[in-house]
Amino acid sequence: MPKQQSRQIVVGILANAGGVGKTTLAVHLAYALSKRGCSVALIDLDPQRALDVFCGLPSVEAEDSLVRVLSKDFVGGWPLVRAWNNPNIEVCQGHPVLSQISDDLVIRRRGEYTLADRLQSHPLRHDVVILDCPATLGMICENAIAASTGLLVPIQLEMKSVSGVADLVQWAIAISDDLQLKPRPPILGLVPCLYDNSRAIHRQYLRQLPDVAEQLQIKLYPQIRDSSEFKNASANGLPLQKYRPAHPANRDFEDLAHDLAALARKGKW
Ligand SMILES: Nc1ncnc2c1ncn2[C@@H]1O[C@H](COP(=O)(O)OP(=O)(O)O)[C@@H](O)[C@H]1O
Ligand SMILES: [Mg+2]
Repeated sequence: MPKQQSRQIVVGILANAGGVGKTTLAVHLAYALSKRGCSVALIDLDPQRALDVFCGLPSVEAEDSLVRVLSKDFVGGWPLVRAWNNPNIEVCQGHPVLSQISDDLVIRRRGEYTLADRLQSHPLRHDVVILDCPATLGMICENAIAASTGLLVPIQLEMKSVSGVADLVQWAIAISDDLQLKPRPPILGLVPCLYDNSRAIHRQYLRQLPDVAEQLQIKLYPQIRDSSEFKNASANGLPLQKYRPAHPANRDFEDLAHDLAALARKGKW
């Protein structure tokens, strides 16, 4: 009998704007996946280091952040810290110097592949690696695409973001092709975020999304509802699942967590 093994999945969370709910999605998925028995590494690619706040972590020096991993002389030993005292969730924290690293990657050999190369030469032990991307589609996001086995695209139900989805998807495919990624990381799903049922425009855009998703041939996941409790939870450095375990919005992540956990288990026999 072959040895039990699981295949690590690397999920890049990508959007072409800030405030769409990327970090919220990253954090809540990490928690939901840990509850399903997966170990998760959350990597903060954002110079604004939003994950620190969401995970209740004190900010760290560049040396103890992703900056070290992406620096030229990385020799291994990812700087990881546990989130919420959960042994199954570890965070590689971000740092403002990531914007300089991003500039440096432009002129570095294999600059677009640096994160992918690090994950290859110094693998993480986790079942799932989640990449929380910055809002600007630069070198850092290209690194995320090159390192990902699949991408998730959160969408806010505003005109700009709904009409921009096709552009973002095309951009991601073009980057994958330019970088000759084989296989090209599939877009695992569109995730409507910050959905407010009391707003007619949200309800209208939500109705349009199945067609948009079908045209793009991408799975559409159930919407994450807008709730002020998300803000309260993150202000306390907690995911909503821990802050308000009985809150109905916690269920909004379940379909996605189910599918990702199944993907991570594929190859286990
Ligand atoms: N479903 C939601 N309901 C209410 N507030 C939300 C929700 N999702 C995100 N937010 C809030 O919106 C802001 C932006 O979300 P965030 O996840 O940081 O987006 P991004 O990472 O795309 O910039 C944050 O203050 C966050 O707490
Ligand atoms: Mg963010």
